[in-house]
Amino acid sequence: MATNIVWHKHEVNKSTRADSLGQAPRVLWLTGLSGSGKSTLANLLEKKLHGENKHTYLLDGDNVRHGLCGDLGFSDTDRVENIRRISEVAKLFVDSGIIVLTAFISPFRADRDFCRNLLAEGEFIEVFVDTPLEVCEQRDPKGLYKKARNGEIKDFTGIDSAYEAPASPEIHLEYKDEPAEDTAERLYNLLAEKGLV
Ligand code: ADX
Repeated sequence: MATNIVWHKHEVNKSTRADSLGQAPRVLWLTGLSGSGKSTLANLLEKKLHGENKHTYLLDGDNVRHGLCGDLGFSDTDRVENIRRISEVAKLFVDSGIIVLTAFISPFRADRDFCRNLLAEGEFIEVFVDTPLEVCEQRDPKGLYKKARNGEIKDFTGIDSAYEAPASPEIHLEYKDEPAEDTAERLYNLLAEKGLV
């Protein structure tokens, strides 16, 4: 734990950067089971926002785990640390004026709330990508559910590790058998209705 450190207040700050980018920075936090479609939807949503000349950045579970969180596994403790690091990074991006999209299972409510509490009021938008476990397991895009059922992977979310669904997310997106493009459009519209994009 670092001690004897002070916080420097700089004159170019979140508000000046946001003004020059002409947007309200925030975090669109997608949470849901593995295979729920978070990455696909985040990618399509980012494309749409990018097309509107918004300045965005997508933090994605599988990618971040190659670098920043490459030392972490899937125990409860490691998942907590994974989300803590992502939250701090997301906060820095918001400070730089960027609209951040995240795609992490982020199974624990307390960790998602940790990110919410790091940010200012209204900057954390929780999007619950609500795809039933049976559908995720049927999609099984990476063959991981099969491995988890065979006991080749342990602590797999939804199988032998918990997923705590959001109690009151800003956006509750049910996603079963609709095409991804239509679902992403629906997500965009839900955000737009609330003035969040
Ligand atoms: S989180 O729980 O810490 O938020 P994160 O979103 O970073 O997870 O990573 C999830 C991805 O890692 C899954 O989409 C899947 O591809 C892969 N993965 C590998 N092992 C596991 C596991 N035991 N549980 C869940 N996902 C796993």
